Amino acid sequence: MVNISFEGTESFLSRQPDKKDVQAAFDTLVNRTGAGNDFTGWIDLPENYDKEEFARIKQAAARICSDSKALVVVGIGGSYLGARAVIELLRSPNYNALPKNTPDIYFAGNGISGDALTDIITMLGDRDFSVNVISKSGTTTEPAIAFRIFKQLLERKYGAEGARSRIYATTDRARGALKTLADREGYESFVVPDDVGGRYSVLTAVGLLPIACAGIDIDRLMQGARDERTEIRFRGIESAAVQYAATRQALAQQGKSIEILAAFEPAFRFMAEWWKQLYGESEGKDGKGIFPASVDLTPDLHSMGQYIQDGQRMLQETFVFFSHASASVSVPADEENLDGLNYLAGREMSYINEKAMEATMAAHISGGVPVTQIRLARICEEEVGALIYFFEFACGVSGYLSGVNPFNQPGVEAYKKNMFHLLGKPGY
Ligand code: PA5
Repeated sequence: MVNISFEGTESFLSRQPDKKDVQAAFDTLVNRTGAGNDFTGWIDLPENYDKEEFARIKQAAARICSDSKALVVVGIGGSYLGARAVIELLRSPNYNALPKNTPDIYFAGNGISGDALTDIITMLGDRDFSVNVISKSGTTTEPAIAFRIFKQLLERKYGAEGARSRIYATTDRARGALKTLADREGYESFVVPDDVGGRYSVLTAVGLLPIACAGIDIDRLMQGARDERTEIRFRGIESAAVQYAATRQALAQQGKSIEILAAFEPAFRFMAEWWKQLYGESEGKDGKGIFPASVDLTPDLHSMGQYIQDGQRMLQETFVFFSHASASVSVPADEENLDGLNYLAGREMSYINEKAMEATMAAHISGGVPVTQIRLARICEEEVGALIYFFEFACGVSGYLSGVNPFNQPGVEAYKKNMFHLLGKPGY
């Protein structure tokens, strides 16, 4: 369960969020009466997911684990970030390098760098591999290019028939270029539900198939999301998620227009990337929106720390801290004590990390940065599922509070039109 503390924001709020406004935003979201309401299928997803498809995801993951040493996951934005975030947080950012009995996982098609793609091909070597191509529209340029390349690699290695049995397509139920190709070739297919947008899709096959391939228990992940949903429904506007949404908006109204998500685990880095997409795409429109940024602490205290402490005062910060570490590592004693560290001898690194978090929080508050603190018990499937649902729900409420449609992304078309024109795409 997500626990939240606003002790570090109280002294900054000259006006508390208006409860009537917050209730209205909450009601708009749960009653699906607001702008973009046809993209709110994610609200009930932890309860109402397709159980037959869920079982197929587990079977496909078991097959990939048995016949492949690597899985190439092709996708971008909402069709990429959630899976990578969960795998890095629950397994490790060093997942591929660590000993394990699940396949290495490479993410491709999330940019247009030929160098990055070549690295993946080199790392694959001559090992057996499968591909999970993920695109709701089926027409996004970055993954489409990468998929062409990996499809041809598979065909060269296994022949047309063999390649078909190693390609898993996650796409729209009925429409799009990828759906047409998947039907024609007979790829095993999974669905991005019509009413779930890319950035809210991590708990569909979009995220769940790669996550399951990494050996993560997707039942427990869904259970965590389900528990958080129940908690939010029970506590309504007093829930941690709604309070978080209301507080960040109230702070923004007082000029704190940039929110930094700060976590004290390097494995959280891609969760922050996922969070930035979720909030940036949902709220940054119509000239509005809190700019989402992130730092990795304590490393970034030695780079961004100066600015956060002392730069322009338009920042608010949200800390994410896991109370119990998985690994037990303590500082060894040293007879000579030349580094002066013996005062920490025997102390767990998790204890020192927590003191660093408390110290940073106090420093930033005294420097004029309001800090909201999110606490989770430990890095495990249930807690991560809860955190995903917490951030998604809060984002919906926060978007409605600021008066935008949190479920569209009209702004992302501008660069595409220019790029297609420059590349000579017919019709541009
Ligand atoms: O959140 C979104 O809608 C976007 O980030 C999309 O997920 C991203 O552009 C990829 O789109 P698609 O899945 O259609 O290839």
